[in-house]
Amino acid sequence: MDIKDILLHDETIFKDINAFNPDYVPENYKYRDSQMESLAICIRPALKEGRPVNAVILGSCATGKTTAIKKIFEMVENSSEQVICCYINCQLHITRFGIFSQIYNKIFGHYPPETGVPFSRIYQKIMQYLQSEKKALIIALDDVNYLFHSKNANKIFYDVLRAYEEFPGVRTGIFAVLSDIEFRHTLDKNVNSVFIPQEIVFSPYTRNQMFDILKERVKIGFYPNVISDEILEQITDYASENGDLRIGIDLLRISGNRAEAEASRNVKVKHLGEALKSSGPLNLINILKSLSKPEYELLEMISNADEEFLRAGELYEVFKKKNKSSYSSFNRILEKLEFLRLIDTKFTGKGIRGNSRLIILRFSQKEINKCMALL
Ligand SMILES: Nc1ncnc2c1ncn2[C@@H]1O[C@H](COP(=O)(O)OP(=O)(O)OP(=O)(O)O)[C@@H](O)[C@H]1O
Ligand SMILES: [Mg+2]
Repeated sequence: MDIKDILLHDETIFKDINAFNPDYVPENYKYRDSQMESLAICIRPALKEGRPVNAVILGSCATGKTTAIKKIFEMVENSSEQVICCYINCQLHITRFGIFSQIYNKIFGHYPPETGVPFSRIYQKIMQYLQSEKKALIIALDDVNYLFHSKNANKIFYDVLRAYEEFPGVRTGIFAVLSDIEFRHTLDKNVNSVFIPQEIVFSPYTRNQMFDILKERVKIGFYPNVISDEILEQITDYASENGDLRIGIDLLRISGNRAEAEASRNVKVKHLGEALKSSGPLNLINILKSLSKPEYELLEMISNADEEFLRAGELYEVFKKKNKSSYSSFNRILEKLEFLRLIDTKFTGKGIRGNSRLIILRFSQKEINKCMALL
């Protein structure tokens, strides 16, 4: 097929390509009844003029946490006007203003102006509305660990959960979502005693559960007979070995695309092979496998650092203690990590000691740690 045919060929093997989008919320959401029930129990008091119960939602990646929240929030909003449910992705919104702008938009249908209005006015308007309308507010802070970097978590939790002190009668609750059990402790450290949550755990899916979920997605996303059970078994193996259902969903989409680009009516082993080669998370594992011990250790230090932007000089001080290496070999390792596109480095004039180099992890800490755990 030539390029024009690839672009314009109008037959498709996808019945609904959106079924493979990251934000797709599946109609049929299996294996999570007990977690959905626990969420409902936390919300229930709010429907009866009480206070919602705070919760922390724990589970490794792609165990359905975000989906559960979105589903339960939709159910609540369809059944009652007395509870406002606001979903916030903390990877996108990390400041107090950013988060309260989302809440403001949810309530009033538009964002507050970005300049000229003090935070306290926005906060007041939200809380006065909840007070006068006697509505409860539940906020889901998804991937809440992103607030730890900016050290905003405590303030935001306080703003939300102690609102009743300034605005008597206001009923608020937080669902905090964490994808790494290690963050559990950091959360306690970051938000003190204002947040005493119920824990809801999303355990990893078994291989059979993954197969079943992926099969269901195939039925929604592809026309019949596009993906054989044999291919699906292989895709499930990859997902299950990596402990990540999302890898399976991505592989379905990418190998489908490959097949379609060749005008094939079904996905063949070869298309899956090509998809595997181009699939990010699996590539990352291969790159990590190729690192030497000091390279690996340095990456680990960068990935586990508390700060989002590290300075090379400060990092060297820590690295030196463990590896006794010279600055130039430290520098070579940094260059190699940059060459492998694991990190970016950027010169800045803002260092205390003149010119300083910032190190920025190109992958999320979560992704790196997940892949490291698999090595
Ligand atoms: N029980 C399920 N049934 C059907 N699809 C599911 C189920 N659980 C998860 N998925 C699908 O897996 C993908 C990941 O789910 P989701 O985003 O809810 O996971 P998560 O736990 O929030 O992951 P992360 O920690 O990476 O944010 C989504 O495409 C979702 O539709
Ligand atoms: Mg999520």
